[in-house]
Amino acid sequence: MLKGKTAIVTGGSRGIGEAIVYKLASLGADIAVIYAGNVSAAENVCEKCINEFKVEARAYKCNVADFNETKETVAKIKSDFGTVNILINNAGITRDGLIAMMKEEDFDSVLDTNLKGAFNMIKHCSGIFIRNREGSIVNITSVSGILGNAGQCNYSASKAGLIGLTKSVAKELAPRGIRCNAVAPGFIETDMTGNQTDNPLLKMIPLGTMGKTEDIADAVAYLVDAKYVTGEVLRVDGGIAM
Ligand code: NAI
Repeated sequence: MLKGKTAIVTGGSRGIGEAIVYKLASLGADIAVIYAGNVSAAENVCEKCINEFKVEARAYKCNVADFNETKETVAKIKSDFGTVNILINNAGITRDGLIAMMKEEDFDSVLDTNLKGAFNMIKHCSGIFIRNREGSIVNITSVSGILGNAGQCNYSASKAGLIGLTKSVAKELAPRGIRCNAVAPGFIETDMTGNQTDNPLLKMIPLGTMGKTEDIADAVAYLVDAKYVTGEVLRVDGGIAM
């Protein structure tokens, strides 16, 4: 389905990003993994793509919050793969705290990574997409950006901002054949969160369980190829933000 397409996945070396990489590779896409620091994790993910899914895959160390670094990285990926067709903005961080106690740097770093990082990547890929007259962008936001969450004013603001970015980019680039959508995960089981069977938050989820990284990857794969869908925010949250 995605054979011959090149997909960039930011933060693709673990967690939700890793699951997205495998899903897109399983559909035939060549993969550029952007990672922040763990080179061996990123290389292992690429090796699995090459060996198991028989696609091309390379890892690029890049801080998505850095405008110039993202510009150079996108140019390098274009030169290595020939083009870019798909961009998944998955890289994200949390620096939780109550607003009265939150340090300025914790607000700035979350906004810089989660929101400006997506802006940087979209901006640098948009020229390629416009020339190709096609492109598909999926931003990973969060139900925290829809509902708000006490102790996460920085994170919620960044993820709500990402929804505004998604819709504006979708409107601006639709006439050029480029789509931009978002997935809003709820409470997802990752290496970091684990399967918290006793967490009281689970009672608030209508479907009663945490989601799996593959649930998010399936939603991303749908949006990547959904030819008549743009500007959509698809909740994958067990119903928690209904
Ligand atoms: P994670 O912490 O396991 O993975 C995040 C990835 O982003 C890591 O590979 C990290 O190295 C990379 N990253 C962080 N800062 C970066 C930077 N400046 N430049 C390049 N890469 C950077 O997190 P997880 O859980 O897999 O989350 C992935 C996305 O899903 C994030 O955007 C997160 O906000 C979002 N999300 C996760 C939920 C969950 O329950 N796990 C719920 C809702 C949204």
